[in-house]
Amino acid sequence: MDDPLLRWRDEFPILQRTAYLVSHSMGAMPRSARGWVARYLDAWEGEGVRAWEAWEPYVREHADRIALLIGAPGGSVVLHQNVSTLFGGLLSALVRPGGRRKVVATELNFPSLLYALRGWTALGLQLHLIRCPDGATVPLDAWREAVDGHTLAVVVDHGIFRSGFLQDVESIGELARRQGAWVVVDAYQTVGCVPFRVQDWPADAVLGGSHKWLCGGPGAAWMYVNPERADELAPALAGWFGHRDPFAFDLELEYAPGAARFATGTPGVASLLAARAGLEVVLQVGVQAVRRKSQALGQRMIELADSLDLEVRSPRDPERRTGMVVVDFPGAEEAARELVRQGVLVDYRPGAGIRLSAHFYTHPHEVETAFEVLGRRVRRPVR
Ligand SMILES: Cc1ncc(COP(=O)(O)O)c(C=O)c1O
Repeated sequence: MDDPLLRWRDEFPILQRTAYLVSHSMGAMPRSARGWVARYLDAWEGEGVRAWEAWEPYVREHADRIALLIGAPGGSVVLHQNVSTLFGGLLSALVRPGGRRKVVATELNFPSLLYALRGWTALGLQLHLIRCPDGATVPLDAWREAVDGHTLAVVVDHGIFRSGFLQDVESIGELARRQGAWVVVDAYQTVGCVPFRVQDWPADAVLGGSHKWLCGGPGAAWMYVNPERADELAPALAGWFGHRDPFAFDLELEYAPGAARFATGTPGVASLLAARAGLEVVLQVGVQAVRRKSQALGQRMIELADSLDLEVRSPRDPERRTGMVVVDFPGAEEAARELVRQGVLVDYRPGAGIRLSAHFYTHPHEVETAFEVLGRRVRRPVR
């Protein structure tokens, strides 16, 4: 046991009781999250309305910690309960009467954002969905063919949730920008697992959240908005926390500068505090270290899957893959339930298969255990 990252295991109580291979869906809770939530309750109980004196700067601080993680300047990140709402706010600024209407996404995007796009078709948006016949990858040429001078925006999932395929955000962003389109990236599947700096990307907005690789629990999503373009955006989905001066209670809508204009109403402080513990751990561990480890254990998962003749739905090249490996075979759904019953936490997605992932806290034994259970299901010994 010479992997120094394994020392973090004590900080995550669930790792004592389960083989935790599901951080692509919900990261394990750090022990210290309890203390951050207790701070919230103490302030609310003891200070009542005066708690806002601490909570307001805290919300800004949390956004700036996210900015630090994703390579964004301070003040360029806005927080919300979930990505879908932030994306709705962004669409409400992009879709304008008489303007461009075509938005390009793929049938492998996370469905919640596709639902938002479909919802906006009632208000004139034209959704162009790139078909992905293999159910796992999106060829760059398909983006080249789909994006043209009528395109309002592209919506690119950095990591595909069904397969772990990593998209080439640089190339897609550049080809979209050449056509004058806005570039929106959903990085929920990669933040905290695949290193990136949003300022190195040709991107106008990048969305993500805390409950996966950031071990932050639900309710703490965020959106980076390119500071050079944020002030062009006038979201129709607006609220007082997105006003330049919320406590002026002005009757006119004067947007806050930058990303903050997307804040809408009162922030969910408790979720943001709960999310802080995991964020601090990931910042300390470093996303590069997470990446090295999840790539190595991912390769081991692929070896084990091959030894059982399971179909590997994820790219075999670790550079083209998020931290997740997806395997499929007849009966995979029931096998996933069996794994969970045996304390090996994974998940199953229809049209994809069983999704497994290793984080910085994963012990190699957990991976071996998962495939031993699968081996018993498919009735072949693990080589
Ligand atoms: C790519 C991607 N985007 C977004 C989400 C979540 O969206 P929301 O924050 O709206 O629940 C997920 C999964 O939870 C995801 O995998």
